Amino acid sequence: MEFKFNFVAAGPPEEQGAERPPVEAGRGCAGLREHRLSRGELERRLEAGLVEQLEVGGPQPLQIRHLNVWLLEQALDQGAEAGLGLSGAIASHSDLVPGVYEGGLKIWECTFDLAAYLSAVPLAGRRVLDLGCGAGLLGIFALRKGAAEVHFQDYNGAVIEGLTLPNVALMEEDEPLPDGGQQPDDDGGRGGEPPGKRRKSPPSPPSPEPGALSHCRFFSGDWSRFGKVHGGSFKYDVILMSETLYNPDCYGDLHDVLFSLLSQDGTVYLATKTHYFGVGGGIHLFESLVKQKKVFDIQTVKVIDDGLQRCIATMSFRKAKSS
Ligand SMILES: C[S@@+](CC[C@H](N)C(=O)[O-])C[C@H]1O[C@@H](n2cnc3c(N)ncnc32)[C@H](O)[C@@H]1O
Repeated sequence: MEFKFNFVAAGPPEEQGAERPPVEAGRGCAGLREHRLSRGELERRLEAGLVEQLEVGGPQPLQIRHLNVWLLEQALDQGAEAGLGLSGAIASHSDLVPGVYEGGLKIWECTFDLAAYLSAVPLAGRRVLDLGCGAGLLGIFALRKGAAEVHFQDYNGAVIEGLTLPNVALMEEDEPLPDGGQQPDDDGGRGGEPPGKRRKSPPSPPSPEPGALSHCRFFSGDWSRFGKVHGGSFKYDVILMSETLYNPDCYGDLHDVLFSLLSQDGTVYLATKTHYFGVGGGIHLFESLVKQKKVFDIQTVKVIDDGLQRCIATMSFRKAKSS
């Protein structure tokens, strides 16, 4: 999904539904919430949606099934999912409404860059956070690669319940893969399609079995609160982020979240456009803030020069210099 700057101001509260977070001084401050859905509710959501399949990672991509985001948007727009609180944002046909809807109902292109990069990164047994997860493909990718525990965070509870949780439930039907292992070529001879190309999956009745979900937790809320989610009692070995650097106003909170939640030896992998035209965010501005704070080392490990320039960067805690 191409990044499209179509920011609109927050509409009146009645358009934004019951779950709309209180907006403070132009920026939302969605309260922290953990989400769980019953098996029955998950099956209802899967039955109401259209399941598709994406190729994620490489060189031999994993097949990851997910709900069609366009249909879900339509359902939310038409009030079929009343109470989820995004219909105002969706009706405005905007990819982002800062402080109300932060774009989690689309799958953004840097997700595919990061998954391809992660194909060569060992994730078995790791505690992983998919920060700003949207559809949750990166977290699901980590689960498929044997991560011990994966937590998902999105600004919007509606995204977590409508998309992320059902997508993880879909994954429960898939065979676990050994870390670093690749899914056997099961594309029925259609090999050669570019990663990220959508195909309708063969029909299969949704019947998630207990499995992947028991290794996952799901949170919504603003980064200004998310850093305190575990009260210091739990840290992540790996934090994954894709397309989360568009808004420089959030960099301070984002840095705090990483500081609070990354384990001492952990690594942040982030994928981003080099520059988000129109809003000013991008890797260089974020890198300046990180360097200024002197908490993390940050380095660009891959540049993708294909249309709008994108890159992948890693962060880890600065090591004390030995004398
Ligand atoms: C453009 S979407 C990217 C979604 C997904 N990572 C992808 O690549 O498809 C940006 C995500 O960052 C998260 N986000 C942005 N600003 C946030 C904030 N201030 N607090 C919490 N989450 C935020 C939202 O959850 C949103 O889903």
